Amino acid sequence: MEEDPSSSTTSPLCRIRQARHKQILRHCLLNALFILLGAILIALSATLIDRSLSAWSRRRESISSQRFHAAFLDLACNTTVDRHLRELTRHPHVAGLPRDFATAEYVFSALQSYGLAPHFADYSVLLSYPVERNLSLLHPDGSLKLELSLREEDPGGGDGGGGGPAAVISSYHAYSPSGDVQGEVVYVNYGRSEDYQELELLGVDVRGAIVLARYGQIFRGDIVENAASRGAVAAIIFSDPGDYAANQTQGYFPDSSWLTPTGVQRGTVFQGNGDPLTPGWPSSTANAERIPESRAGLPTIPSLPISARDARPILESLGGKVAPRGWRGGFAMEYRTGRGPAKLRFHYVANQTLASIRNVLGAIKGYEEPDRFILLGNHRDAWTFGAVDPNSGTAALLEIASRLGRLVRAGWKPRRTIVLASWDAEEFGSVGSTEWVEENLDLLGARAVAYLNVDCAVSGPGFFAGATPQLDDLLVDVTKEVGDPDTGRGSVYDSWASRSPIGGGGKSSPTVDRLGGTDSDFVAFLQRAGVPAVDMYFGKSYPVYHSLYDNYDWMKRYGDPLFHRHVAVSSIWGLMALRLADCLVLPFNYGSYATQAQVYGNAVEDALRAAKAPHNVTASPLRTSLASFVEGAKQAGHDSKKLEREISLLLPRRTLNDRLMLAERAFLEEGGIPGRTWHKHLIYGPSKNNGYQSEAFPAVLDAIVEASGSTNPDKWDAVQHQIWRVSRVLERATLVLRGELT
Ligand SMILES: *[C@@H]1O[C@H](CO)[C@@H](O)[C@H](O)[C@H]1NC(C)=O
Ligand SMILES: *[C@@H]1O[C@H](CO)[C@@H](O)[C@H](O)[C@H]1NC(C)=O
Ligand SMILES: *[C@@H]1O[C@H](CO)[C@@H](O)[C@H](O)[C@H]1NC(C)=O
Ligand SMILES: *[C@@H]1O[C@H](CO)[C@@H](O)[C@H](O)[C@H]1NC(C)=O
Ligand SMILES: *[C@@H]1O[C@H](CO)[C@@H](O)[C@H](O)[C@H]1NC(C)=O
Repeated sequence: MEEDPSSSTTSPLCRIRQARHKQILRHCLLNALFILLGAILIALSATLIDRSLSAWSRRRESISSQRFHAAFLDLACNTTVDRHLRELTRHPHVAGLPRDFATAEYVFSALQSYGLAPHFADYSVLLSYPVERNLSLLHPDGSLKLELSLREEDPGGGDGGGGGPAAVISSYHAYSPSGDVQGEVVYVNYGRSEDYQELELLGVDVRGAIVLARYGQIFRGDIVENAASRGAVAAIIFSDPGDYAANQTQGYFPDSSWLTPTGVQRGTVFQGNGDPLTPGWPSSTANAERIPESRAGLPTIPSLPISARDARPILESLGGKVAPRGWRGGFAMEYRTGRGPAKLRFHYVANQTLASIRNVLGAIKGYEEPDRFILLGNHRDAWTFGAVDPNSGTAALLEIASRLGRLVRAGWKPRRTIVLASWDAEEFGSVGSTEWVEENLDLLGARAVAYLNVDCAVSGPGFFAGATPQLDDLLVDVTKEVGDPDTGRGSVYDSWASRSPIGGGGKSSPTVDRLGGTDSDFVAFLQRAGVPAVDMYFGKSYPVYHSLYDNYDWMKRYGDPLFHRHVAVSSIWGLMALRLADCLVLPFNYGSYATQAQVYGNAVEDALRAAKAPHNVTASPLRTSLASFVEGAKQAGHDSKKLEREISLLLPRRTLNDRLMLAERAFLEEGGIPGRTWHKHLIYGPSKNNGYQSEAFPAVLDAIVEASGSTNPDKWDAVQHQIWRVSRVLERATLVLRGELT
């Protein structure tokens, strides 16, 4: 029987919060009194005491917003999170299918009940579903040895949600083309460029072969692309127990958190972002230009993800060279590369089809600057039940909405507008968020202060975060306010810092990652709109990713049994939004951007030396513009401090805040990263070899890799050109930070 969530007894955690809630109300009555008194005083002696009064009211305002921020933390409630997660994960909800529309309705009504006036934003986009999949292992003579099952089995033992294997979509790779191919098998380890270099040394050729790669180190779209570009006819990717069930004495889910041997990781193999048929513009439902599929950059060879259990007989039937040491996975057997003698026959029929997707957005309007947006976003669509990916984040988003709703009822309003977004079709390549950003590009460019993303909010212990560097300080500060959900003492900051390497001053400071990778919904905000962004989560990785077993039961047993980590994410994510929404001067520190950029500049100089660049190819333009960027950041920091101390009126504050908000936009350059021109940000972009990985100055590094060791002057001229381009965007950002025309 199911517990009725509304009748569940209030947890101790929530009881304390309610007591504080009464305090908030009392506090608000006092505030109202203050405001009244203030108004009378103003009327009495407008000019005389104007200055001191506005200083006083500013102080009062800031104390009042601090109180509300503290109340936001006090309103934390793990039962709200639990209830939402349970509801959202009752059924699998793949983008474009009816169950996912039902989750959109669910989020809509939750936001409505919290007073966030939600609306839908729909698009028609190219999605991709499996129709038929067959994988047969053949004897060298081509006769059938074994039909592989391609089925995930229900492990039993738990309430996995609305049904077992029959309820979820068959394991497949979205955007794999249809195909019917046969070939000898080559084992290619993780399918990285360096793995193919090793194969070449071993004399193993993959042309005309079907490659068998293991998941784990790079984005699956890159595994497929690497195989295709070397002439393979198909790519089969499996989850090796060495990577996904690393401690076999512990067993598998439900006995442990490890991936069951029949578990399969679904996912997209499209290397782009957004709807493949409308690159760079919105795929509006009514009317949109669409390019032909043949020009959409979709994968060219068919591919399929399989389980460890299906991979084992294939590996066992391989001959050829013994695989290098590092290529051995978790099976107790000798790994060989092939080629063959075993063969595979792979038959796949895809349904690439235009489908409707649905974002849900809600907002609380700012009272002073309604046209400045603080955006919080999380996707909602899932490959299966999505308890970790992404609905731990959706539950956290709704928990924030619930707390904000209560603050509003208690009299609070944000200074700037707060927008909450629930994106669709992220799993197909951040499609819902990208279409929305492309549609709203100009308003976002003029008005978006920051975008705060959470995808998988919780998969285990340990806080991790990435940010554009001007947000580092705010992020770190906020984690000091939130209790660590695992140790029960100290703050999230304390445990985050203690896991980070010791820095220069002998002290460890938290490691903040960078957001050049393309692995979640921040990508369009950063790459197309130049909006400062943050991404955060608890738990480094989790073995049941994109499998049948990413369900409520797994979360309850292993991910977050008491939902304290969810609550902590909500608190950090929401408090960041509150600070950005309410502070007078935006808490952006471009000093840390400058420090980072200098590190990348040094890396370029090292890379030039290592690649034996000719003497006339030089990083000196970069050095010059880095020096001005440092000065620009200093000036913006100085002006921020000054304005914070002084009595400040809206207009001068707004002028400074616009400098801080818009400087990130200057890093976008129309030409983008060569070969990946959808990406316009010249400071951060995805690594060419691994879409998950962030790279700094990607266009420069790509050009150096291309020219390395070469005597072709054209290649080195290209390096110099890319150095100039990065130098120019740094100069442009500097001018924005200074806020003066030349
Ligand atoms: C191929 O797979 C489909 C399901 O995807 C199944 O219905 C069909 O029987 C399979 N064909 C063979 C020859 O196994
Ligand atoms: C594997 O799991 C067992 C049982 O939980 C534990 O005792 C052992 O230390 C683990 N081994 C490793 C290498 O983590
Ligand atoms: C393709 O998918 C669409 C959307 O789910 C569905 O309406 C259609 O029937 C599917 N076509 C095939 C051949 O499976
Ligand atoms: C919420 O936290 C309290 C205190 O740790 C705990 O007793 C309770 O079981 C938790 N509720 C849920 C739904 O996990
Ligand atoms: C460097 O010198 C070579 C030879 O004179 C010339 O071809 C090339 O264009 C120069 N490159 C740069 C970046 O100035």
